[in-house]
Amino acid sequence: MIEADRPVSVLRRTWGDEEVFARELERVFKHSWQFLAHDSEIPEPGDYVQRRMGRDRVIVVHSEDGVNRVFLNTCRHRGVPLCRADEGNTSHFRCSYHGWTYANTGVLRGVTYQPDVYGPGGIDKSELELFAPAHVDTFLGMIFATWDQDAVPLREYLGDLTWYLEAIMGKFDDGLEVVGTPVRNIVKANWKTEGENLSGDGYHTMVTHATAVELGLFATPKDLEKLTDVVTPRFTGRTVDCGNGHTIRVQRLPVEIESNQYWGYPEDMWEQFDRNLSPGQQQVMSALSVCHGSVFPNMSFIENFKTNVDGPGLHARYFRITVRYPISATHCEQLWFLLQPRNADPQWRRLSAQAYLRTNGPSGMFEIDDTENFVGISEASVGEIARDKPITYLGGLQNPKTPSEVGWPGDAVDGDKTEKTLRAFHRQWAVMMGENEVVS
Ligand code: FES
Ligand SMILES: [Fe+2]
Repeated sequence: MIEADRPVSVLRRTWGDEEVFARELERVFKHSWQFLAHDSEIPEPGDYVQRRMGRDRVIVVHSEDGVNRVFLNTCRHRGVPLCRADEGNTSHFRCSYHGWTYANTGVLRGVTYQPDVYGPGGIDKSELELFAPAHVDTFLGMIFATWDQDAVPLREYLGDLTWYLEAIMGKFDDGLEVVGTPVRNIVKANWKTEGENLSGDGYHTMVTHATAVELGLFATPKDLEKLTDVVTPRFTGRTVDCGNGHTIRVQRLPVEIESNQYWGYPEDMWEQFDRNLSPGQQQVMSALSVCHGSVFPNMSFIENFKTNVDGPGLHARYFRITVRYPISATHCEQLWFLLQPRNADPQWRRLSAQAYLRTNGPSGMFEIDDTENFVGISEASVGEIARDKPITYLGGLQNPKTPSEVGWPGDAVDGDKTEKTLRAFHRQWAVMMGENEVVS
């Protein structure tokens, strides 16, 4: 649902208070669809990865009957984790404590010493399948799950963001695949700090990332002159509230173009983008500088453009997903997924990976800059005085609505330095937590 935009003020305790955190686990994480994995990570029967929903560890597995399933990683007997590895392939999960064995469909198949322990009739194994979320569904290869029996279907939950995700992830003939095993790290910051930022904070870029820009990690006017003849003096961008707390910001390169230009991708891929995308979606992707957004509550994505990656004229684009698992009010675990188009030119893929690593990868300069801010927000919000002071989100309330004839779904504005999407994120959070969480 898209609510009318209005000023939003959030108490600082939201960034570091354990009582608020405990209620988030109950009210937000138990009732939201949560991103778990991309289906390219588990292509074969038996393939699995270990992930989290809230603080619970879950196994995401490609079962032997071809269905992707999700299970709580805990034995039905006495609660030992069934799976200790981050990823692998197995037909069965065998518990290390007493040896109960489960098929990768979640069915309990084997109970050790059954007559001795449970008598001649044994134990009713049909009652002891692994615990599973209420719903599991996939959109554009992304596997999501929710514990809420009454949750709306995934596509309805994602709302107008589906159209933008199709533009970003659905433009390739052969789809996307995750490269390598996602990197994990612990961040000493509240799980919401990055999601809020990536929801659409175009305001911080030239300040927080000033050095990265100076070092040439972002397209400069000189780079743009090599791409096209006409350079206009300023960047243009749109920011969209897609409903249910999901958001996107799209920043275009400051150029005028007559036909679609998907700079950063090999030119022989451009035809498939025109074929696979609607005219409106082409407008999102053509002459794109960067787009990023968040899927409420804890997934974000970014597609970014890097010029001169490994020499003059070698431009590349990359697409990244991050997810943040809540550990405590001031700690989260972050996973980083680099996704690349299947069957793309290997040399371009190498350039794209290099561009990612230098900028928005786990040790990329933009991320190091940003994380310093996120850690600082949590640290500065836990004190007895600070925790009850408000944070205000007033930026961009004056931005004009994007004309409806442009055809971009959601509540879109023509504005690049707005806090509109941050307000949308916090309004959804407030709806789930209880209205009194946000003072507005
Ligand atoms: S706890 Fe798993 S078999 Fe006993
Ligand atoms: Fe940033």
